[in-house]
Amino acid sequence: MARMDLRIAPSVLSADFARLGDEVRDVIAAGADLIHFDVMDNHYVPNLTVGPIVCEALRSICTVPIDVHLMVKPVDRIVPDFAKAGAAIISFHPEASEHVDRTLSLIRDQGCKAGLVFNPATPLHYLDHVMDKVDLVLVMSVNPGFGGQAFIPSALEKVRAVRERIGRSRRDIWLEVDGGVKSDNIAAIAHAGADTFVAGSAVFGAKDRAEAMRRLRAALASA
Ligand code: DX5
Ligand code: ZN
Repeated sequence: MARMDLRIAPSVLSADFARLGDEVRDVIAAGADLIHFDVMDNHYVPNLTVGPIVCEALRSICTVPIDVHLMVKPVDRIVPDFAKAGAAIISFHPEASEHVDRTLSLIRDQGCKAGLVFNPATPLHYLDHVMDKVDLVLVMSVNPGFGGQAFIPSALEKVRAVRERIGRSRRDIWLEVDGGVKSDNIAAIAHAGADTFVAGSAVFGAKDRAEAMRRLRAALASA
């Protein structure tokens, strides 16, 4: 049966940056639930993207929430800048923060939802004492740094484990998956327990973004 609470978050990492505003309008018109905004610092990950200035520029045209994925170290000093720039959700990698609990509180204090991101080899124990401060768990199904990589199958087991933890906590925590999400694996990812799906190359890499979104939705509807 189709679930109503499944969200698709196109990642602007695979957009044409020369026409970023139009690209974002395009995927929102095609039904994007969130805009996923990847921030890389050439330190925590071996790539460099965009910062709060670009987030702020998109804010006025973004009629859906901006889902900021920080791949930066240190984390804390950039959080207020993204909150001011219009981020609705700010997620970070726990091993990039000296004080995970403090960073989670900082994000909420800035009025945003707080997310914790797990790389393929990052253990889930970072969730142990902070479930009450987490609004979203993001499971990486690739190693962070680049779009267009292949989905790492072991991520499915991790998604199941996170879903179990969320169930036990009885909290309304979103479970997002990021990396290599396509129309041929999104149903399996939903089955494992994810409710929010980042799709970079699957959406922006397609000529017809509306058709790409329809294919993802159709696959989800059959999940
Ligand atoms: C990778 C980024 C992803 C990336 C996903 O580090 O966090 O959000 O854009 O791209 P695809 O969907 O192409 O794997
Ligand atoms: Zn991302």
